[in-house]
Formats: sequence, C-alpha cells, structure tokens
Amino acid sequence: MHPAGPDEVSAVLADAARRAAAYRRAAPDRPVAPGPAELAALTAFDTPLPQEPTSVASVLEQLDRVGSPATVVSNGGRYFGFVTGGTDLAAEAAAILAGAWDQNVALPVMSPVAAQLDAVAARWVCELLGLPAGATATFCGGASVANLSGILAGRDALLARLGWDVGEQGLWGAPLLRVVTGTEAHVSVHKALRLAGFGRRQVVEVETDEAGRVRADRMPALDERTLVVLQAGNVNTGASDPFDPVVGRAHDGGAWVHVDGAFGLWAAVSPRLRQQLAGVEGADSWATDAHKWLNVPYDAGIAICAREEDLRRVFAADAAYLVAGAVRAPMHLSVQMSQRARGIETWAALLANGRQGIEELVERCCALARQFADGLAAAQAEVLAPVVLNQVLVRFGDDATTDAVIAAVQAGGRCWAGGTTWQGRRAMRLSVCDVAITEADVDAAVAEILRCRRQVGRD
Ligand SMILES: Cc1ncc(COP(=O)(O)O)c(C=O)c1O
Repeated sequence: MHPAGPDEVSAVLADAARRAAAYRRAAPDRPVAPGPAELAALTAFDTPLPQEPTSVASVLEQLDRVGSPATVVSNGGRYFGFVTGGTDLAAEAAAILAGAWDQNVALPVMSPVAAQLDAVAARWVCELLGLPAGATATFCGGASVANLSGILAGRDALLARLGWDVGEQGLWGAPLLRVVTGTEAHVSVHKALRLAGFGRRQVVEVETDEAGRVRADRMPALDERTLVVLQAGNVNTGASDPFDPVVGRAHDGGAWVHVDGAFGLWAAVSPRLRQQLAGVEGADSWATDAHKWLNVPYDAGIAICAREEDLRRVFAADAAYLVAGAVRAPMHLSVQMSQRARGIETWAALLANGRQGIEELVERCCALARQFADGLAAAQAEVLAPVVLNQVLVRFGDDATTDAVIAAVQAGGRCWAGGTTWQGRRAMRLSVCDVAITEADVDAAVAEILRCRRQVGRD
C-alpha cells in the first residue's frame, strides 16, 4: 500500500463527490428497489481477491457502475419500509468532510474537534428531547446498542445499590434481578437483555392494549431488584407506553426505568405530540437513533443516562497509556474504544435544521402518515390502529390478499412497504421517516398500492 499523491487525492475525492451528487439527484427517479438485472450484476463483485493492486479510480468506477443501481433507494421519498430515515443534506455533507478528517473520538486528546462536537451534539439532543439537565448522551451504532447500554447501566446500578460491585465481583452469585417489560417490547430489547445476562425466565412480560401500550394496571410490584423497560414508539403502531403512572411507581419501589425510544422519543420535539410521552423524562436511561427520524446517515444511535456515573460504572476503562481524567471521553461512556466521531453528523443536522426544522420534520411525517391512512381507508382498506405518529398499519381483506399486495408493491419498484403481523392478522406496514417524502409521493404511493390491489385481482 502506497500513500496517494496530492493530485490523485484531489481527483479521486472530486470523482467520489461527483458520483455521490449524481446518485442523490437521480434518487427520486430510480426504481426504489433493484430489479433482477441489477441484482444479477452484483455477481461482478464476486471475484477472487486480486493479487495485484487496482487503481482507486477503477475501484470507485466499479462501485458506482455495479453498486449504485443495486441500492435500495431509501432516501428518495418513496420508501416506507421498516423505520428508515432518509438523508439530511447537512449531515451527509458533514459525513463526507469528517470522513476526510478520519477522527477517532475515543479520547479528547485524539481529536479536540471531534470531542467538542460530540459533547455539543450530545447536549443538544438531550435539550431537544426534553430530558433532564445533567443527563449524558453518547453516540453508538444504533438503538440496539443504546438499549444494551441503558440495560447494562441499569443492571449495574441496581446491583450497586444492593451492595454488589459487578466490576469487582462479576455476575455469578449476584443478587437476582428481574426485568419487567411489555409484550410489545422491540426485539432489540430482548437481544440486549440476553447480552446483559437476562434469560427469558427473568423477564416478566406485561399485557399490552390494542395499540401496543403496556397496561399500567397490569404492572406487578416494582422493587429495587427490578429493571423496567418501557417503549416510546411501538414499531408497528407508533404508540408509546404510559410513562407517568409507571415511572412514578417504579421509582417509589427503587426500580430502574429504561426507555427504548428509537424513533418515538422524537415526538418530544413537537408541542402537539409530546403529551404522548408525558413522564418519559423521569426515566433513568433512554435509547434512540439519529439515523431514523433525524435523517442522519447510518449508523447513529444515541444512549442517554440521567446520571453520567451510571454509564461510567459500566464502560470506564483506564490503562496507563490512556489519558484519564474528568473530561468527557466517549470511550468511558460507551461500548467501543476507538470509534467514528458520529456526533459530528448529528451536530450538523441539528445546527442546519434548528429546533424549528426538526419539529416541522416530525409533524410533517405524522401528517403524511395520516394522509396515507385516509387515502387507503377511502378505498376500503382497513386501517388496523389509530395513526398517532408516523406509522400506518393497513390490511386488504384477508391475510393472503394483504401479503399478495405487499409482494406486488415490492416487485413494482415504484414504492416500497413491508409487512407485519399485528394482533394475529397480516398487515402492510408504512413508516414515514424520510425528509424527502412529499404529499405527492404519498398520493402516488397510495395510487400504486391500490393498483397492486387491483392487480392481485381481489378488488
Ligand atoms: C422501537 C425500536 N427499538 C429499537 C430498534 C433498533 O434500532 P437499530 O436498528 O438502530 O439498532 C428499532 C429499529 O427499528 C425500533 O424501531
């Protein structure tokens, strides 16, 4: 491997920027998912590892020629799958420049600028989400890792209060804890619990209502050996658990409350929506994503703890060659040691949009979700849950027809929606999360979904 000369660096980076811009300009007109020819062409990548070098220009040319047409265009305004954010322009541009910087944010001494932007972005996120002064946010790979971080912080804090030091004594022989969560907890919560040493037998799943909210009246007694995991934004319906009644009771009993708010926590930025989260600020830890509703490029999760020492108890790791101290150092607050300076892109998105821009984005997505539901309901599709946020669940007659419509939409390439099973019935799932989506996009998607219903012949 040889260092590139300045002319080559300039030429290659200019070429990359030109190709990136061309891709983004064309995104709204591309098929939203690759067709058979584009997928078949991917075999061109499947070569033996070459012995000789390939020019960087040629690497980039191949990536664009074969790779770009095989992308799922999730930032062009017609993708409604999973909960997928689009691409905020400021965050994208910042990612390009920060990529050139190639900073490691583990310790401030490794990158003062990354440390500063990471700290500012973390503070802004907490303020924007209405979380308590003193809360500490830290960036990570996604809400799955953020859930793991909050659950580990809660586990070790509960054990510390019981006189057990996990760092010193480990987990074997520790006082038994249990977890209380709703039957609708996200799969990433169960994965995180497993990683944190909780098996299914230690998890009490509380009944949820027709919107997927945990039933506060069915909560068991919550004591100092209990880790409660609540949810802001059900992945199917968008509904949030009732925080007020549960958080108060949990804290009266000495329990820890973690909130999985991967996308739903962003409802806090809207005065019209924030009552859905009443009491969420009283929790002990929160997980969210910037790559979902904030439209920051992948990957950007955020773990937040009410008290920084609860993160430090789990993650601080000092060694002689590392600079220790009281300053904020992401490696002492998160799973990773070396890490990309993810906070830079979130900082850019927050600065470029301001409070007002984010509030508008969240409210516009919710209005577009209602437009989807109204448009489909007007054509006698069945909307399975009230649209309270940015998620829509819709069904076309029976399970088989619903699945056939989903398959036809996905094959058509004009828009993309996924499927799910909601309370025993198959449903199409539409998530409105991309800054690029317009009213015209939703009208076109409704028309396409109804065309597919006609095509499967059951209209
Ligand atoms: C409610 C909820 N929690 C957690 C996650 C996991 O997030 P990530 O994929 O960023 O790890 C998701 C992803 O859709 C989610 O919707």
